[in-house]
Amino acid sequence: MDFSLTEEHLMIRDAARDFAQTELLPGVIERDTTQTFPDSLVKKMGDLGFLGVMVDPKYGGSGMDAISYALIMEELSKIDASASVIVSVNNSLVCYGLEAYGNEEQKQKYLTKLATGEFIGAFCLSEPEAGSDATSQRTTAIDKGDHYILNGTKNWITSGGRADVYLVIAQTDKHKGSHGINAFIVEKGTPGFDVGPKEDKLGIRGSDTHTLQFNDVKVPKENRIGANGSGFRFAMKTLSGGRIGIAAQALGIAAGAYELALKYSKERKAFGTEICNHQAIAFKLADMHTEIEAARMLVMKAAWDKDQGNNYDMSSAMAKLYASKVAMEHTVEAVQIHGGNGFVKEYHVERLMRDAKITQIYEGTSEIQKIVISRGLIKE
Ligand code: CAA
Repeated sequence: MDFSLTEEHLMIRDAARDFAQTELLPGVIERDTTQTFPDSLVKKMGDLGFLGVMVDPKYGGSGMDAISYALIMEELSKIDASASVIVSVNNSLVCYGLEAYGNEEQKQKYLTKLATGEFIGAFCLSEPEAGSDATSQRTTAIDKGDHYILNGTKNWITSGGRADVYLVIAQTDKHKGSHGINAFIVEKGTPGFDVGPKEDKLGIRGSDTHTLQFNDVKVPKENRIGANGSGFRFAMKTLSGGRIGIAAQALGIAAGAYELALKYSKERKAFGTEICNHQAIAFKLADMHTEIEAARMLVMKAAWDKDQGNNYDMSSAMAKLYASKVAMEHTVEAVQIHGGNGFVKEYHVERLMRDAKITQIYEGTSEIQKIVISRGLIKE
């Protein structure tokens, strides 16, 4: 067993850390306040290879492993979880979905642009009545021979207003349940495809979240991903990798808040000494550090499973369940350690606390992760 990172891993981690400090940090409060999408920063992340981390270089990707991806996600998320969710969805839901399940033509046409950041991708599974219960898709895709006609509504879509390419899950044959579902590539601007208003969110406010409407949208048959009826399995497999990204995001949010709290506790004085010398604060720091390290082990184990070709459905669910809990609990503690300063924006921890909440909700709520883990245990 070897817990050390390779030289290459350390280099990519340091590059992501440096980018987060020099590029993401300066405007992060402003973007959160004004709900501004980081357009120019997304372009720079594309140039650095962060938008197609695991994609084969022959499709324009960086050809790195899932451990590198988790390291990048952690470092970006320490500073700006809005930027990191754009990275996560593009990498693990859209690029991975196309690379693993798309055909050569689809990869050449879309993946090559998504992996470099020329295009941004969105993943459209959730609906007003199909969030956790993802098999109950109401969006329909009716087979018309050489094309499908899509009708329905998708909710809470990350990069919904900014994306160029949307992977849309829809029901083709409702009598077949999860086996009657397909995944389609829909391009921005396709007639009948409308983007609704932007959501006003508690956290990750710099990301762009929308409801999408599909009204008689004509999608060519060559835009279906995989065999007829494989869309639900496509969504589930893709989400297993996505959960590694969100687990790493949660880890980064927790670690970012912890680092700020540790630094603050060494500077702030009360009762004649730095507050880290008070056991009430020191024990919080000890708990935070221990549990963040445990979350990191779970995240790295899930990424390692993916790199080894092992099944990672359970390990990614466990990583996301635990890391998101640690993120929520310890960002609250980081605010507490900062006292009154924790409640104001310039100290960053209140934003990290707001950003943490979504990691317990998207890409499968914590309750859904427990379903995945417990079903996996029973099946073993
Ligand atoms: N790999 C392969 N196949 C899988 C699978 C997996 N990981 N999980 C399920 N399947 C298969 C099952 O084997 C089953 O196939 P058979 O009928 O042949 O046996 C079929 O899919 C149906 O599976 P279930 O019976 O387990 O389905 P279910 O209705 O009980 O639901 C669930 C399972 C795990 C609860 C699933 O609905 C789920 O994951 N829900 C959460 C959805 C989710 O994560 N949404 C996030 C939205 S995306 C997002 O948030 C992106 C963003 O913008 C950040």
